[in-house]
Amino acid sequence: MLLRRSLPLVVATACAAFASAAETPVPASPLSITYIRAGRVIDPASGQVLTNQVIVIEGDKIKSIGPDDTNAALLPPNTKIVDLRQATVLPGLIDCHTHITSQPENYYTDIFRKSPIDVAITAHVYARRTLLAGFTTVRDVGAGEYTDIALKRAIDSGKVAGPRIFPAALTLGATGGHVDLTGFSPSISFKDMSGVADGVDAVRSRVRQNIKFGAEWIKVAATAGVLSEEESVGAPQYSELEMHTAVEEAAMWGKKVAAHAHGTEGIKRAIRAGVASIEHASFIDDEGIALAKERGTWLVMDIYNDDYILSEFARMGYPEKIIEKERLVGRTQRENFQKAHRAGVKMAFGTDAGVYPHGWNGKQFRHMVQWGMTPMQAIQAATVNAAELLNQKGKLGAIATGAHADLIAVKGDPLADVTVLENIDFVMKGGEIVKDQLARQPVKTFD
Ligand code: ARG
Repeated sequence: MLLRRSLPLVVATACAAFASAAETPVPASPLSITYIRAGRVIDPASGQVLTNQVIVIEGDKIKSIGPDDTNAALLPPNTKIVDLRQATVLPGLIDCHTHITSQPENYYTDIFRKSPIDVAITAHVYARRTLLAGFTTVRDVGAGEYTDIALKRAIDSGKVAGPRIFPAALTLGATGGHVDLTGFSPSISFKDMSGVADGVDAVRSRVRQNIKFGAEWIKVAATAGVLSEEESVGAPQYSELEMHTAVEEAAMWGKKVAAHAHGTEGIKRAIRAGVASIEHASFIDDEGIALAKERGTWLVMDIYNDDYILSEFARMGYPEKIIEKERLVGRTQRENFQKAHRAGVKMAFGTDAGVYPHGWNGKQFRHMVQWGMTPMQAIQAATVNAAELLNQKGKLGAIATGAHADLIAVKGDPLADVTVLENIDFVMKGGEIVKDQLARQPVKTFD
């Protein structure tokens, strides 16, 4: 269900109707005003829970938050009141590792029978599911043919429902590595655009191409991977120099780099090269953990993925060697998540959605809690921490004056049971209610 916000009406007569009120009402604003009356608010910035708050939304931003002493008679005309007094309100969630434009159906069909147009034409479905799952922002770390950029534009212009997207376009990687299509006959060639870039000049050029066409992040494959056919899962695939070049070049354009890295050595190379975040980080060792702490490098660890890959990927025709690689990674990654978190490494929420079905992003919370985080810490990873990684501190992942009005609400208490975040009841993005399943009075407009 997608509810459209009604356009603000500035009706002068409505102001006149208040003239006789004991106190002078606030004059009408040219922007729409929404008062969200929240029973409980989880404030990730302070780690506190506030009760009986009112969040005032003006246009697409949060104007204020404070104790709820709402007196309807004193509100400006056309104020919309949303009664969430029985619910818990949080900032919209952020997933720092998605591939929102696609999701796997069958290994060979996906490779041989789908064109980039097939991908592009269905991407909006996944964007909508992601948004309705409460994820109002994603960093999308790798898509073919600039489909992520096109999707972002369609969302930003209001044509398609979806989260805010920070796109990375084509992932950079080595020939024969994680982003190359390996395992097939050398006679088969694909005409798709490729992020394969060997050596510093090619890396520079690929970074520039990506940014030219709209990438806001650069993604590099520092090591081998699971869902690709090269033998090892963790072998380094880029030199430190190549990654340093990507970091330096991206910085020249005001961008940062995220590195796919499962392997111990590749993780350290990427950190030393200056990437902002390590994705997966499965085989990070003590030295890597110390290095990440020292350099302030974020870890974005997709610790839900293992469940889905092991239960579904054989059915989808993935080669046994890929499934075997997942068996090597899964549990160790979770243990290392716990270790790195205990050591105090900065952690941001990222799931690799698009490996599993879009909209299931919230399923990772339970694993983060099972492997050592408190529910509040897991929520912080998906709000304040993620916003900091994205250079959006105070603007996203926050309920504060001036922040984007991206809010979610649930009936239950996520701090008591974090799995309530798997089903979000209410979603607002940029001041617009896009989902509302709470059993209560319909949204009221006071005018
Ligand atoms: N995209 C990743 C890769 O192919 C998925 C890894 C998923 N496994 C995991 N345990 N996180 O390498």
